[in-house]
Amino acid sequence: MLELAGTRIVLGLTGGIACYKSAELLRRMLDQGAQVDVVMTEAATHFITPTTLQALSGRPVYLDPLDARVPNSMAHITLTRGADAVLIVPTSADFMAKLAHGHADDLLSTLCVARGEVPLLIAPAMNREMWTHPATQRNARQLHADGVALLGPGEGDQACGETGEGRMLEPGQILDALVAYFQPKVLAGRRVLLTAGPTSEPIDPVRVITNRSSGRMGYALARAAAEAGATVELISGPTALPTPQGVVRIDVGTAAQMHAAAMAYAPRADIFIAVAAVADWAVAQPSAAKLKKQDGQPPSLSFVQNPDILAEVAALAGGPWCVGFAAETERLDEHAQAKRLRKGVPLMVGNLAQDTMDAESARLVLYDEAGAHPLEPQHKLHAARALIREIARRMPG
Ligand code: C5P
Repeated sequence: MLELAGTRIVLGLTGGIACYKSAELLRRMLDQGAQVDVVMTEAATHFITPTTLQALSGRPVYLDPLDARVPNSMAHITLTRGADAVLIVPTSADFMAKLAHGHADDLLSTLCVARGEVPLLIAPAMNREMWTHPATQRNARQLHADGVALLGPGEGDQACGETGEGRMLEPGQILDALVAYFQPKVLAGRRVLLTAGPTSEPIDPVRVITNRSSGRMGYALARAAAEAGATVELISGPTALPTPQGVVRIDVGTAAQMHAAAMAYAPRADIFIAVAAVADWAVAQPSAAKLKKQDGQPPSLSFVQNPDILAEVAALAGGPWCVGFAAETERLDEHAQAKRLRKGVPLMVGNLAQDTMDAESARLVLYDEAGAHPLEPQHKLHAARALIREIARRMPG
């Protein structure tokens, strides 16, 4: 499914070296099904040509408020009517100042003032001194108060050779933020804690016992919770996945570490979603030195039971509303409901291990006290969004 299907976005460019990244962003927005009208300031044309953006978008690029190609020749009005968002990438310090003061002296600034209810998202991009200057910070606060969504800026190397805050977010991050903007804010003001990925129990310094879990479902849920407006903390075992935007990630290795982190963070969470594939047992005494092969004899290992993180969080007095996951290979209904009752949680999400492992999609079944509620098979991110809506619907008060 395309993330921006059916949307029409006005993409504004203002002067700055980050303009070259706008071409990539435009391409990715189109790939996701958006229709994009590009509007440039004169300064932006010094960094990237209208021809490039016209060729990519397959539509005219606008600079002039009196552009006669727009019906009724009122580009500053017509372009935003029926649009789903105005997105300005990059947004210079000067353009932020104009927006904060309501200037309307070129097509882009004028259409921002004339846009009515159409959301405005901006991705600032400037030298670190320009970003931290009191005037820019004042303008940023004013824009935030005016309901403008500021995407970033991030930190890092800058084209000028300096390093610091003011660097524009990457096109992928801006795209994710735009997609997130359109999601219903069903968890606004809520704090969500998740566990995800496998745990890793050492046998010796070079060998571990782990589970086959990519972490995809847990990361998709963390992203979906953040998109829904929640504050999200993600306790993650070792995975190769990037941290979803806006999510605070706490890296752990063993089940004992995951347990300690969960018990530390759970008391202030409203919702706890245990998605991690936690190792049931840890090696009782991991060897400090690498175990050597001895006459072909395998070593004998003894194990200790790991704590059940979900059951312990669910038992906390005044603790979060808890959701568990049950990955089974057979008799899903029976095992998932039994697990729900044993762990004392209101909602258990079941799936068949053979359907979900290493897969992009998920076939989830929700189990609560009323019975089983299957969700349709879908991409893990869409399944995650559907599950977040179900959780929001069931949450008390
Ligand atoms: O008992 P089982 O591992 O099948 O239960 C799965 C659910 O319990 C998942 O939500 C998993 O994250 C959680 N769990 C846990 N701590 C454990 C084992 C499982 O939180 N030690």
